[in-house]
Amino acid sequence: MRMKVLAVIAGVLSLAAVAATAQEHHEHMQMMSKMAKDSRIQVDLPPPMKAHMLSNMRGHQQAVAEILATLAKGDGEGAAKIAETRLGTGSPGSAACRPNAKSGDLGEMPMMMASHMPDEMRGLGMTMHAQASKFAEEAAKLKQGGDTRPALAELAQVVQACNACHTAYRLQ
Ligand code: HEC
Repeated sequence: MRMKVLAVIAGVLSLAAVAATAQEHHEHMQMMSKMAKDSRIQVDLPPPMKAHMLSNMRGHQQAVAEILATLAKGDGEGAAKIAETRLGTGSPGSAACRPNAKSGDLGEMPMMMASHMPDEMRGLGMTMHAQASKFAEEAAKLKQGGDTRPALAELAQVVQACNACHTAYRLQ
């Protein structure tokens, strides 16, 4: 009798284990198929422009890292300067996203880049650059030993703006 009860318990436990494994497998497959289904819009840029844009992007990433390190030292002025010159609305990297880029006012490369990028994408770019300038304004107010939270909150929104474009577009 006792053996029978034990056998039944063992049977139930192994069935539960099989069910759990099946469930895990199912979730794993679902995740894989989500990853495989890339719904970002592909933007076709000629190779030199693509290289130019990706190099700009790595520059953006580097700027964010330097801003964080500078803020961590309590140097708001320094962080503001990095943001304004490398990510803000006046930065060289923002040229292709500016509304007047297509007219050629800002030079050959920004004009060509602008002509290959969807306007919505350039709009998302401008949102990021404008938010970086907003961060710079906030960071410049920071006094040594002051509260870094308002500046960090603006910086978080800069990174959100990077992500908004990354979610929507890809180059390859
Ligand atoms: C207007 C759109 C847009 C904005 C805004 C944007 N990116 Fe990108 N970024 C892209 C696209 C498109 C790619 C290529 C992604 C792909 O093909 O998978 C990219 C790629 C990158 C890469 C990879 C570079 C490489 O060498 O492969 C980095 C790093 C990056 N972005 C950082 C940033 C950071 C940091 C910000 C914000 C400060 C930012 N990006 C804002 C569109 C954008």
